[in-house]
Amino acid sequence: MRINVNDKDYTVVVDGNPSLLEVLREQLDLTGTKYGCGEAACGACKVLINGTPTPACITPATVAQSKKVVTIEGLEKEGKLHPVQEVLMEEDVFQCSYCAPGMIITAVALMEKQEALSDSEIVEGMNGNICRCCTYPQIVSALSKLTQKAKAG
Ligand code: FES
Ligand code: FES
Repeated sequence: MRINVNDKDYTVVVDGNPSLLEVLREQLDLTGTKYGCGEAACGACKVLINGTPTPACITPATVAQSKKVVTIEGLEKEGKLHPVQEVLMEEDVFQCSYCAPGMIITAVALMEKQEALSDSEIVEGMNGNICRCCTYPQIVSALSKLTQKAKAG
């Protein structure tokens, strides 16, 4: 099967109906996307499929055929991190960072949908992503800074 990930076309093997997460990590060596719960409950494995944050652990790889998949590795463009990545790094938000790829993917989609967000909209938009180090307040505060910058133009 052909699959497009981070603007590159790949041929992958889908015998046995592997999940998208298995294909990304084991066949394409894109290990930035993490395995957490395996049941769409933690958000660690989220990737964008045609712009929508999607848990890759429960998504059959075949679902991604003819669609555009973006993983955490695909957010950097020409050596420049995505503004969401930049603000989360500047604010030194994460502790172990295991949740970071899924959090960032979710936040990128959220910010692209609507740039000016209240804190409660950020909380609602990030719902479904679990951080075992409980960095939620720092994540919301950093994303809030980004949204304020966007509002200021
Ligand atoms: S590993 Fe997919 S949502 Fe937890
Ligand atoms: S920083 Fe450790 S799980 Fe989020």
